[in-house]
Formats: sequence, C-alpha cells, structure tokens
Amino acid sequence: MEMGKTKEFLKKRFKNPYVLDVGTGLGGLVNEFLEIFPEGNFVGIESDETVFEHYKKHGEEPAIEIKIMDAEKMDFEDNSFDIVILSNTFHHIKNKGKIFDEIKRVLKNDGVFILGEMRSDDLSQKQKNHRDLHHLSAEIDMHNGIYHENTYTEEEIVDFVSEFFDVLLTDYLDYESDVSDYTDMVNRLRDILDKKIDNLDIGIDEKKVLSNKADEILENILENGKDIPTMVILTMKK
Ligand SMILES: C[S@@+](CC[C@H](N)C(=O)[O-])C[C@H]1O[C@@H](n2cnc3c(N)ncnc32)[C@H](O)[C@@H]1O
Repeated sequence: MEMGKTKEFLKKRFKNPYVLDVGTGLGGLVNEFLEIFPEGNFVGIESDETVFEHYKKHGEEPAIEIKIMDAEKMDFEDNSFDIVILSNTFHHIKNKGKIFDEIKRVLKNDGVFILGEMRSDDLSQKQKNHRDLHHLSAEIDMHNGIYHENTYTEEEIVDFVSEFFDVLLTDYLDYESDVSDYTDMVNRLRDILDKKIDNLDIGIDEKKVLSNKADEILENILENGKDIPTMVILTMKK
C-alpha cells in the first residue's frame, strides 16, 4: 500500500500546485507530495514556535518554508491553495470544526484537501503495539497541557470529514519496520517513559497506573515488535 492511487490522481489534476501543509511539524507526509511535485510551491504552518529548535536538534533543515501560524485563524486569502494537507494532526486538534472551516476557506474551489491520519482499527499486532504506545504518549501529553487525543477508527474519521467535504478517493499508506530485535528500542523507550511519567505533576497512584501501562506495552513490543499503524489517506473536494 503506497498511496499510488492518490499520487496518480494528483499528477493528472495538477502541474505545479500551490500546497499548504497544516500542522507541518517535522514534515512527515508532506515529503510524499514533494516527490510528486518537485516544482510545486509549498508552505507549511505550525503553531509550536519551538519547531525550529526540533529541526536543529535532529540536525535537519525543513524541506519546505514554515510559518508560525494557528490553523484556527490562517493568515491566507480565501481560495488560495490547490492542495491542503493535514497529516497525523487530526487527533492533535481540539477545535476540529474551526480548522476544517478554515481549510475550506483557503482551498480553491477546484482544489483538493488531503487528510492523512493513522487509524486505530483494523491493525496488525505490531501496529496495535505502536498505537497503544502512542495513546500512552497522548495521555502523558494531556497531563502536560498538550492537546493530544487517542487516534480514531477509519469510520470515525470519514464520518467527521464528510460533514465538511466530499470524499473523492480513499487510499492507504503503510510503513513496515525492518527491526529484528527490539531490545535496544524498548530500553530507550523505557528510559524516556520513566522520565516523562516521573516528571508529571500527578499523584503517586496515577503515576503507578501509567507505569504499569508502559510496562505492559513495552513487553508486547519486545515480544511482537511495532509498526506504524496504517495511514488512511482521504482526497476530498469542497
Ligand atoms: C504529530 S504532528 C504531525 C506532523 C506532520 N504533519 C506529520 O505528518 O508527521 C502534529 C502537529 O500539528 C501541530 N498543530 C497542532 N495544532 C495546531 C494548530 N492549531 N495550528 C497549527 N499547527 C498545529 C502540532 O504542533 C504538531 O507539530
């Protein structure tokens, strides 16, 4: 599953599109679009002002121009973009309706909105292990005041977007890891999770509950490994 249908569709429809990546973070899915449209005009928006520090820490340069901007109130004219992308950000946003209205506003009438989102259902055991770890991170983020929900089922995602857009195409993207021994990874994750849980401003009993969850998930990863859950890629029009 390589999102081939989506790439074919976009190549036929656009030549050098003006593309907006909402919640661009450290890139992710937008790189697939840079491959299809090397001459396209890309801009990403991100609300977290520390994003540039993250790039520095990873020793990377952003692949596209990044503007610090809140997706709930975008500083772009109506009908500006050929393609708007929202990738793995759906479960990071509280006011989804507001952001979907904004995306609709800045998207050209003949433009397309692409939502890429890891689904929470119909997963292999390795993918479930990644999902469970991700959900634990979301719980820790919420304790730290960072908005981060659990991921959604494919049906829940489609139901939500259908209130705003018409789905033209459904596609999938899978990343399979080639790790054969997860011991090092699990040890690293254990250190990170222990520190994060320890630093939370919650009671000892709550910390214990989180630690037990972490132990269970890490045991499962050690036993069966982990893979990023299948990403649902919806291509939509307004
Ligand atoms: C998990 S990251 C996804 C990054 C990237 N799009 C990808 O595919 O990997 C979600 C990003 O959305 C950003 N974000 C959340 N709410 C936002 C908002 N209201 N406006 C702009 N960015 C936002 C977060 O700061 C975070 O960097």
